[in-house]
Amino acid sequence: TAIALLALLGAYLIGSLSSAVMLCKVSGLPDPRTQGSGNPGATNVLRMGSKKLAALVLLIDVLKGVIPVLIGRMLGFDIDILALIAFFAFLGHLYPVFFQFKGGKGVATALGAFLALSPALAGAALLTWIVVFAISRISSLSAIAAAAMTPVYSLWLIDTVFARTVILLIALLLLWRHSSNIQRLLAGEEKKSG
Ligand code: G3P
Repeated sequence: TAIALLALLGAYLIGSLSSAVMLCKVSGLPDPRTQGSGNPGATNVLRMGSKKLAALVLLIDVLKGVIPVLIGRMLGFDIDILALIAFFAFLGHLYPVFFQFKGGKGVATALGAFLALSPALAGAALLTWIVVFAISRISSLSAIAAAAMTPVYSLWLIDTVFARTVILLIALLLLWRHSSNIQRLLAGEEKKSG
């Protein structure tokens, strides 16, 4: 259990590396938390005008989910502990200890964590995102739909009730972090991208 606790702490610290804030800083751009939607994530960095930087933010934020869960796998943890590791990486992205606890919405990091937890679950979530984005061109709406569906998919694709519950918690937190987007969507004011 000491190793499991260390793994959770490590996952939280890795999740806390806010790639959007750091990459904007080294690129001489303003803090993404002061621009556009105010979200330090790939969508908002794209909105700030840098495709390349947005792609890099997306890649790093996905890896922040993938790496801790993969390390957990190599340490031989079961699906329940792996789900907790996923949760802590996600939590780090939302509430980064290195950045005044002002983090992002967790879409990319949750996707990465799910990829390492269950490629089938991540595939189903990603497909949902892609279908909704193809129709709507709205990043937040795509993430909201994927987050709403992932707990449903987990009923088939994840074996334990505990791990499913952790996945549900991740989805609920992700939806809650999109409350300003939901308000904009309802008001018809959410921006399209791409
Ligand atoms: O990844 C977050 C996305 O779903 C919404 O981002 O910047 O449009 O609030 P944003």
